[in-house]
Amino acid sequence: LEYRGHDIRELADLDYETVSYLLLFGNLPSVDELAEWSSRLRAERTIDENILEIIRTCNFNIEAMDALRTAISFESHCDVDLKDSSSEANIRKAIRLIAKFPTIIATFWRINNGQGVVQPDPELSHGANFLYMLRGERPTDLEARTIETDFIISAEHELNASTFSARVTASTLSDLHSTIISGISTLIGPLHGGARMEVMQYLEQIPTPEAAEEFIRDQIANKKRIMGFGHRVYKTYDPRARIYKDLARQIAAEHPEERWFSVAETIENIVHREFVEKKGKPIYPNVDYWSAVVYEYLGLSPRLATSLFAIARVSGWIAHVFEQYADNRLIRPRATSIRQS
Ligand code: SDX
Repeated sequence: LEYRGHDIRELADLDYETVSYLLLFGNLPSVDELAEWSSRLRAERTIDENILEIIRTCNFNIEAMDALRTAISFESHCDVDLKDSSSEANIRKAIRLIAKFPTIIATFWRINNGQGVVQPDPELSHGANFLYMLRGERPTDLEARTIETDFIISAEHELNASTFSARVTASTLSDLHSTIISGISTLIGPLHGGARMEVMQYLEQIPTPEAAEEFIRDQIANKKRIMGFGHRVYKTYDPRARIYKDLARQIAAEHPEERWFSVAETIENIVHREFVEKKGKPIYPNVDYWSAVVYEYLGLSPRLATSLFAIARVSGWIAHVFEQYADNRLIRPRATSIRQS
């Protein structure tokens, strides 16, 4: 898997600001370009009081992704560049979107949990600042490195459902915020962005590696899809899952009292035995499997999993939208037939 010709294994140890620049502009930034890009992003991390009010008001019986969709929709009304489709205005809007996603999610989460709002810290990296705003304390160096790599390797993935949705919206020449709201709305689906949360939820129900066998047997007997496995494109091990597994192994070494890695590896081996070896079906871990294990070690709630994906993927969505705007033709596929009622 490559972003703009760069293998993600080469990019995984960089920082998210650098990779977001690569995705949007097509090349890695020079030192000066990165300094300016980083400064513009960090200056836009705060959210206005009226958006904070919206998050407070809609903070009932909804999840972080619902709040993100509402907040971004409201933020668009406050954005002076909303209907300016020039590339300069689109870059200004892109910066505000990339910078504010983490703040909106962290703010929603703290209000939803009855905690005080934590203002962004411009001294911290994109990922470290998110963990700081979410928890109210600065992350360890390993945690900061882990979340940064998480955001990088979940940032872009060709024409997955949410990116395709954003591109279709862009192809009508709708504004940038509207394309991103299409992406958010599509990512919410359990077969796409929701899988990470479901992996975390079942891992939390499996107390020991030994209990994993019974869980998988039950899933198969009931013909249930095992979340975190399989992929429309990768009929092999998802290259991102390999990077996430290494991240999980590193952070697990610092938490020997936690079971997550051993349970997850046991499940991976059982699924391989039951599907690949016994049935010849290429069901391998996808991006959502080992990332869910990483989130468990970071102490993150399953309810945050999809919104973490969105924080990462917004740069990929915008890169595709810019590409669509630059050489546009309305995306309007034909259907073989409209089903008769
Ligand atoms: C993401 O495309 C992207 O880039 C998306 C993504 C990204 O970065 O944006 O990578 C993120 O969306 C990853 C996928 C997250 N979703 C899940 O983990 C949900 C569980 N996975 C499955 O729903 C499924 O694997 C899909 C939807 C992801 C892909 O399914 P396909 O390619 O449409 O394959 P299929 O549904 O045609 O299944 C082929 C066979 C079927 O068996 P048969 O009907 O032939 O007997 O494989 C079986 C399926 O039942 N199968 C599974 C399975 N996935 C496929 N069986 C059990 N568990 C699974 N997870």
